[in-house]
Amino acid sequence: MKIYIEKDYAAMSKRAAEWVEHAIRSNPQLVLGLATGSTPLGMYRHWIQSVAAGTLSFKNITSFNLDEYLGLSAAHPSSYRMFMEEQLFRQIDIDPSQTHVPNGDMEHTEDHCREYDRLIEQAGGIDIQILGIGENGHIGFNEPGEDFGRLTHVVRLSDSTRRVNSRFFNTLKEVPTHAVTMGLKNIMNARQVVVLASGDKKSRAVEQALLGKVTEHLPASVLQLHPDCVFILDEAAACRLPDEVKHNVEMAR
Ligand code: PGA
Repeated sequence: MKIYIEKDYAAMSKRAAEWVEHAIRSNPQLVLGLATGSTPLGMYRHWIQSVAAGTLSFKNITSFNLDEYLGLSAAHPSSYRMFMEEQLFRQIDIDPSQTHVPNGDMEHTEDHCREYDRLIEQAGGIDIQILGIGENGHIGFNEPGEDFGRLTHVVRLSDSTRRVNSRFFNTLKEVPTHAVTMGLKNIMNARQVVVLASGDKKSRAVEQALLGKVTEHLPASVLQLHPDCVFILDEAAACRLPDEVKHNVEMAR
């Protein structure tokens, strides 16, 4: 487990962007696992600038997003597909046919989940999975209590997650009750996992994920078992970590 602690959101975003840019330059055909939410937006803005400057290309990149709300079509303004289109895909040179987001608007959810897993496998697996972390320790939409062994599946969203995410909707009532998410097993199957967290609201989840017991009550704690996991935090998200966890220091487990 590696932990980097940067001063603030801007510095965290820059380091995360550079981390992935370096990987893309080494392997222009990288398979990237992407996340929605507020946290990765700064990193995405860096990528957009690098593509515009001609120093980075996503031309041969394949992407798989973690999750999507159930019941929202891709064209819905609050869908995660729309979020990715607006915040990243339309502003970089990625091939649209190589971007994947689970479909939240399908009849046969089980078939769709198996197909999503198959597509990931067919692409050769995910090289780098980007993750945010929920205040309750969720990753993707894997809420507390999720089985570590699951692949893509439908989940019921917790009340707290619906409340936190209601900022992207007009009312709490509009927030879907269910979602499709890659499971914790998909995340653990990625060759490398990069977790971003910013702000003191995330500090408890970060502390428990890194230093607490590995338990299904805190889904992100499973990452302690991942052979190549990197946490890129700002100081506020890292405020509960002990002093010996310093910038750029690899943490022994
Ligand atoms: P956020 O969401 O980046 O909007 O804080 C993270 C998450 O809930 O996984």
